[in-house]
Amino acid sequence: MPDIPAAPHSVIRRLWPFDRRIVRKHLLRLDAESRRLRFTGTISDEVLRAHADRLFRLDTVMFGAFVGGELRAVGELTTLGSGRPFEAEAAFSVERAWQSQGIGSALFSHLVLAARNRGMRVLHMNCLAENARMRHLAARQGMQLVRLEGDYDATLSAAAPTPATLAREAFSEMAAVLAAGARWSFGGRERASGSR
Ligand SMILES: CC(C)(COP(=O)(O)OP(=O)(O)OC[C@H]1O[C@@H](n2cnc3c(N)ncnc32)[C@H](O)[C@@H]1OP(=O)(O)O)[C@@H](O)C(=O)NCCC(=O)NCCS
Repeated sequence: MPDIPAAPHSVIRRLWPFDRRIVRKHLLRLDAESRRLRFTGTISDEVLRAHADRLFRLDTVMFGAFVGGELRAVGELTTLGSGRPFEAEAAFSVERAWQSQGIGSALFSHLVLAARNRGMRVLHMNCLAENARMRHLAARQGMQLVRLEGDYDATLSAAAPTPATLAREAFSEMAAVLAAGARWSFGGRERASGSR
């Protein structure tokens, strides 16, 4: 079974409640165009702060890509409402200077694996029609893309988890800890390994 593709020069790991502050800072660093593509509209700092807080209240699984110990990209996997059991939505934000370097693609693979391992039967992703990069990444994951008015709705029927997929996620997370080594980042502060 192939490994989850790595993004060059970055470490991807799960994000936890203690990461709330750095997630907020990452979202606030998004430029206007990235905000528009991510949230399909003009988004104020206040709305972004509320979004960051909501992520940690909702049933959301998040992965972050760290470059030099700083959180530069986030992939969000949010379980959809009770009317749509076992369905989840994926969304991504990569800071402008780190776009087109393979980070979004790597985060996407992490979210697809995480959705599968949590028994999600259908994975959704919605993006503006003009977001060619996002459409390209969705198609590469095997998602079916349907054009709506000004956007695209992408869906993927996830396969059932297997011991191998569960092991792959566990090993990937362990590898992230080892790769981060002394630069492992907790809440945005880097601590020397062994200092906790
Ligand atoms: C969209 C986004 C998540 C993609 O992440 P990324 O790290 O920039 O993308 P990657 O470098 O992993 O991959 C980009 C791919 O798109 C391709 N691409 C770039 N421009 C393209 C275009 N105009 N048309 C088609 N494909 C394009 C690249 O060639 C690459 O594919 P490849 O790996 O096969 O060569 C990121 O750019 C981003 O956060 N944008 C702003 C917010 C956003 O749009 N969020 C998505 C809404 S859910």
